[in-house]
Amino acid sequence: MDDALIATDIVTDVAEISFILNGRPAAHSVPVRRNLVDFLRQDLGLTAAHVGCEAGVCGACNVRVDGAVVRGCLMLAVQVDGLEVDTIEGLSDSGEIAGLQRAFVARNAMQCGFCTPGMLMTACELLKHNNCPSREEIRDAISGNYCRCTGYQAIVDAIETASGEQP
Ligand code: FES
Ligand code: FES
Repeated sequence: MDDALIATDIVTDVAEISFILNGRPAAHSVPVRRNLVDFLRQDLGLTAAHVGCEAGVCGACNVRVDGAVVRGCLMLAVQVDGLEVDTIEGLSDSGEIAGLQRAFVARNAMQCGFCTPGMLMTACELLKHNNCPSREEIRDAISGNYCRCTGYQAIVDAIETASGEQP
């Protein structure tokens, strides 16, 4: 077969996937090579998860899949078939991160806001497993999330403040 034809087939190949998105059933066609964060942003209009490094380093693209925070840039959209996906939009709508959102505002923990959704996703996971983390544990938890603006101090303050509100 013609090489160009094979390449075209690979690029345009699509798959049908169904999954739970922010608590609701969803079904979509998706190009098999599209990564999860691009699928969420470009196909579904869920633009809270950001695209920074596209190499699994910065944490801007963090989303939750089956309860675990993953890099949306390192996962293919087809891999969430049959799984549960939560984005920051969903966590915000459900109130799950309300305490963190309040604390981020109160402690001035964002400037440009580019890192903030990924940071909130990571902080939410931390507080789920440890409702009274030390500042060192907070720093350790967010070590995979890059922020170019704040110097991290205010972010650690905010997560510490939110942890005080955890049941
Ligand atoms: S864009 Fe995914 S980790 Fe940076
Ligand atoms: S607030 Fe700008 S990158 Fe974190």
